[in-house]
Amino acid sequence: MSEPEWLIRNRANWDERVPIHLASRAMYDQSRLRAGTARLRPIDMAVLGPVEGQKILHLQCHFGMDTLTLAQNGALATGVDFSAPAIAAAESLADELGLRDKTRFVVSDVYQAATVAGLAPASFDRVFVSWGALCWLPDMAGWAKVVAHFLKPGGWLALAEAHPAAYVFDSRTKTQDGMPGWFAPYLGREPMIEDREDDYADASARLKATRTHEWLHPLSDILMGLVNAGLRIDQFHEHDVIPWPMFDCLQPTGDALYRWPGKPWLPLAFSLRATKPA
Ligand SMILES: C[S@@+](CC[C@H](N)C(=O)[O-])C[C@H]1O[C@@H](n2cnc3c(N)ncnc32)[C@H](O)[C@@H]1O
Repeated sequence: MSEPEWLIRNRANWDERVPIHLASRAMYDQSRLRAGTARLRPIDMAVLGPVEGQKILHLQCHFGMDTLTLAQNGALATGVDFSAPAIAAAESLADELGLRDKTRFVVSDVYQAATVAGLAPASFDRVFVSWGALCWLPDMAGWAKVVAHFLKPGGWLALAEAHPAAYVFDSRTKTQDGMPGWFAPYLGREPMIEDREDDYADASARLKATRTHEWLHPLSDILMGLVNAGLRIDQFHEHDVIPWPMFDCLQPTGDALYRWPGKPWLPLAFSLRATKPA
């Protein structure tokens, strides 16, 4: 079966970003990982719970920084990403860090992951998805079914993501007071197809595979996707911080997060735990 255009375009775009991100100390600093002291963000840890001894499936793992961090903290971690250069970089980092026996990395589209040999159904204690992942996927109901497929009964999805209400805005349509302006309709549900040469981790980078297809999923599509896949939402939090400067006006908090200037405004992020009933 031929691949859809969104998949071909997005994968080419992400393939090209891998070497740029590997070299970016600002967004993807690997020094703590190399020192053996890497930790996930507190928001991620709150929904994951203790990871020691847990079998964790990390979907859209990029070049594996968080997957390797999980392994460094005692988990048996499997990272899945559709970008072959990202997975090759993750494997080479795993070798360098001596984490090959605690990790597995797989090249696969999220929606095809259930067809990968050795990725057994109901075999993971946790599925972990975080920060800038869902906007690359066209269908939340299908994604939630993949998550449910891989969870053991009693296991849970730990999700930490940018808030859909924030994706409505963009700094490219800034208002006079410096706040981001309106960008996309919350309930639009059409893919947002853009051509951009720039990369968020390196302002000097110029991409050749510029076209991307992204989606703004209303919160209800994410939550009901999970509920309809048979999962139970046990935790749900909205946050006024996010781990990257999503808008020009956001200010660093000093602990690798960014928040609105002045009083909290709309939520920037959300996190949840969704459990597969035992
Ligand atoms: C912003 S990154 C997510 C960062 C990630 N949370 C991490 O641990 O670094 C988005 C990732 O999603 C991957 N991706 C996008 N669409 C995908 C798909 N359909 N299947 C698998 N991976 C995908 C990209 O290759 C990229 O690595």
